[in-house]
Amino acid sequence: MPFSRFNPPRRLKAARQSLSTNMTSYLRVQDLKLSGKRVLLRVDLNLPIHDGHVTDDTRLIGILPTLKLLRENGARTLLISHFGRPNGQAAEAFSLRPIAQLVAERIGAPVAFAADCIGAPARDVMHALRDGDVAMLENVRFHPEEERNNPSFAKALASLCDIYVNDAFGAAHRAHASTSGVTAFVPSAAGLLMQAELDSLTALTTNPVRPYVCAIGGSKVSDKVRVFQSLLDKVDAFVIGGGMANTFLAAQGINMGTSLCERNLEPAQEIIAAAKARGVRLLLPSDAVVAPHFDADEQANVVQIDAIGTSMMLDIGPATAADYAAELHGAKTIIFNGPMGVYEKTAYQAGTRAVCAAIAEATAAGALSVVGGGDAASAAKAMGFGTAFSHISTGGGAMLAFLEGTLLPGVAALQAAAIPS
Ligand code: 3PG
Repeated sequence: MPFSRFNPPRRLKAARQSLSTNMTSYLRVQDLKLSGKRVLLRVDLNLPIHDGHVTDDTRLIGILPTLKLLRENGARTLLISHFGRPNGQAAEAFSLRPIAQLVAERIGAPVAFAADCIGAPARDVMHALRDGDVAMLENVRFHPEEERNNPSFAKALASLCDIYVNDAFGAAHRAHASTSGVTAFVPSAAGLLMQAELDSLTALTTNPVRPYVCAIGGSKVSDKVRVFQSLLDKVDAFVIGGGMANTFLAAQGINMGTSLCERNLEPAQEIIAAAKARGVRLLLPSDAVVAPHFDADEQANVVQIDAIGTSMMLDIGPATAADYAAELHGAKTIIFNGPMGVYEKTAYQAGTRAVCAAIAEATAAGALSVVGGGDAASAAKAMGFGTAFSHISTGGGAMLAFLEGTLLPGVAALQAAAIPS
C-alpha cells in the first residue's frame, strides 16, 4: 500500500522542515486535541468506477491512516467528498452511499450516511456520533454552491464541526467551498495523506538530488506545456513517450503516418528550443511499435522511427525502451508522469513496463520516485509496480497543477487558516 508503507527518506524530512518553518505553513491533524471533537474530514473519494465496481481504491486506502488517527484519538468524524460531476444536481448515479459502505468494510466499523451534506440530515447524523465513530455525507457537488465556493454554503459546512481537516489532495487544485472556503470559518488542518503528498512533491521541486529525470507521456503536448515549462528549470532530462512523443517527432520533421498527432507543432517546437537553450536533454523515440490501425494488434511490429510509413505508432520500440531505462537507472530523482504507449493493450505495454521496471530499480538503489498526474499511476499499478516507487500520488490534475508551479487553492486555504489573526 503506497501510503501506509510511506517512510520518508531524509530528503522528505528536509522538505517537511522547510514547510513547517515557513510562516505560511499549515496545521497538522496529529498536532491537534481530537478527543470528543467533531471533525469534518474532506477526502477525495472520487473513485473510478466501471460497471458498478471500483477499479482503483488507492484514494480510499490513502485516507485510512488519517481515519485511524482520528478514531484512535476519540474524534467524531464526518467524511465529506465529491463524486463525479453532477453539475449541482442530486442524482442517484453520483451518490456516495455505496462508497460509504466500502469505507465501513475497510475500517471494520459502521459508517452512518447522511442523505444531504448540509441541514437537518447532516446535523442529525453528526449529533448521533460517539467518540471514535465515522459517518459520511452525501456528495457535496449536489449543491451548486460548492463549486462556486459560496461563503454561506461554506459556513453551513463549517457549522457541522469543531475542526476541519483536509485530506483531499486530489481535489486541492479546486477552489471550492469544501476544499477552500470552509477554512475561513473553523480551525483547519492538513490530514496525513495531504501531508505525505505535499512532502513528496516538495522534494521534487525543492533542492532535488541530481541526476533528475522526468519520464513523461500522455496524449497531448498542449495539455502539459506548463509542466514542461516549470520542469525545464529543474530536471536534467526528459524521456518522452505516449501520443505526445509523436507530436515532438513531427515537430522535428519526422513522418508519423496515421499516429495520433497534434496539428499545432509550435508548443513542441518551443519546448525543444527551450530545452536546448537550458542544456536539458529531451530523449525521443528512435524506434516504435506500430500497427496499420488502432485495433490491428495482431499486426503490430517494430520499425525505425523514420520508417513509420502510413502506420500508427502505439508504443516506444525496444531500442528506445533500453535507452530510457539506462537514463532512469542513473537518476536520483524521478517523476513518472504518463505511460509510454497504449498500455491497456498487451501488444503495446512493453515500453511502459520497461520504464516502470527501470524506475523501480532506481528506487531500490536509493532514488526518490514519484508517480502520478493522470494515467501514470494506473499504468504502474496495472503492471504490478504499485509498491515499487517512493510515492504514488492520488492527484491527477492536482499533481499536474503542483508540478506547473501553482499554489493549490486547497493548500493555500490551509496555510491562510494557520496564520494567527
Ligand atoms: C480528480 O479525480 O482529479 C479529482 O477528484 C478532482 O475531480 P474534478 O476534476 O471533477 O474536480
